[in-house]
Amino acid sequence: MKGVILAGGLGTRLSPMTRVTNKHLLPVYDRPMIFYPIQQLVTCGIEEILIVTGGGSAGDFLKLLGDGEELGINHLNYAYQDGEGGIAQALGLAKDFSAGEPLIVILGDNLFQDSLEEAIGHYSQGDGAMIVLKEVDDPERFGVAILEDDRVVRVIEKPKPAPSNLAVTGCYFFDFRVFEIIEGLQPSSRGELEITDVNNKYIEWGEMRHHVLDGWWTDAGTVDSLFRANGLVSEDRDNPVLKGLSMELDYWKWSPSK
Ligand code: DAU
Repeated sequence: MKGVILAGGLGTRLSPMTRVTNKHLLPVYDRPMIFYPIQQLVTCGIEEILIVTGGGSAGDFLKLLGDGEELGINHLNYAYQDGEGGIAQALGLAKDFSAGEPLIVILGDNLFQDSLEEAIGHYSQGDGAMIVLKEVDDPERFGVAILEDDRVVRVIEKPKPAPSNLAVTGCYFFDFRVFEIIEGLQPSSRGELEITDVNNKYIEWGEMRHHVLDGWWTDAGTVDSLFRANGLVSEDRDNPVLKGLSMELDYWKWSPSK
């Protein structure tokens, strides 16, 4: 399985902090936000990773991450998303990278307390799709899943009121047909190709599974959730997924004097 991290978008909800940099380069506790999804993938043994980013700071990802070796990535690739056409548009740029293999996709502003290894295990056959769900108190901020007899029958993007408290987190599993779906999508009313439309297509096909998380999950895309993410990480410093395994974080490597 290959890994894709989506780190494009304008990060307008974090303006002015994102006026001169990309949201995923902002700090969460002691490191840039983008490290957390990378650490997830690396600790799960994903060897090939694509980062999709965009905007004026795309080059800073190269400066920060280079070829990925210091972070334990064997093969790090980059793609550039022109504009902010939506999560599904960004994922569409991973078509050549995937080369027909199944993908684990993580949104670059999502942090998970626990390893996603168990979720990967549930998707082990690598066909169809799988979404990762988490019970939350504020579901109307997210994609929300409706379950019947333990099957996902529909996902709705930011519904008000929310029909359940099961948020669709920013971790998705797709087989190669995701790219056919994306090619057939129409932009939503907000002008984006929506990942929720992709998920509903797999649901329509009867090929959507789900996994419910136990540990905490948060995004970091708003001032409040970024603040929350900092607190959650700072309280859980011995967690290998948050600390990173391969990098005993050799801080000197990232210090400006080097
Ligand atoms: O965090 C989980 C939620 O993420 C899901 O519950 C929603 O269903 C999903 O639509 C998404 O909602 P957000 O409104 O939080 O998405 P946002 O626009 O903040 O984008 C999340 C990440 O996706 C962002 O950190 C980078 C990436 N992205 C987003 C857009 C719009 C891109 O790479 N390109 C884009 O054009």
